[in-house]
Amino acid sequence: MSVVALFAKIIEDTDMWYSEFHGTSHWMRVRDNAMCLASETNGDAQVAEYFSVLHDCMRENEGDDPEHGPRAAKYAEEHRSLINLTNRQFLLLQRACAGHTFARPDDKAGIDPTLAACWDGDRLDIGRVGLTPDPRYLFSDQAKRRAEYFPENESHRYGT
Ligand SMILES: [Fe+2]
Ligand SMILES: [Fe+2]
Repeated sequence: MSVVALFAKIIEDTDMWYSEFHGTSHWMRVRDNAMCLASETNGDAQVAEYFSVLHDCMRENEGDDPEHGPRAAKYAEEHRSLINLTNRQFLLLQRACAGHTFARPDDKAGIDPTLAACWDGDRLDIGRVGLTPDPRYLFSDQAKRRAEYFPENESHRYGT
């Protein structure tokens, strides 16, 4: 079973998939980012793929909704049968969803390459709301290097 079964269930159960800012187009960019980063850093790309479709699916609005990550982790639990991961992977997926809004690079959890790939994958897509990814809020060196290619961050790239 692939992530498609869960994706279809999310579309059936929620309205957030339709959102310009927190819906499917964002999820697919997070998927690309997070799976690539996971493969570059020895993270778990399967967990990253599930994270991409889950992490924002339980948002109740487009603005301040600090509990949407923990709600996504709970939704994952309720639909465990649609998620083709080992229990160890599943716990990591829940941590990635629950913590994605408030995790900071100086937290211990950021050392885990899978969590880092998920959270960086999401934060690298902040351009959708007109912001530039800030390397200070990214976890892996690979993600920080990508952020430096945003025009606003070019001074980092050239060391000026
Ligand atoms: Fe989120
Ligand atoms: Fe997101």
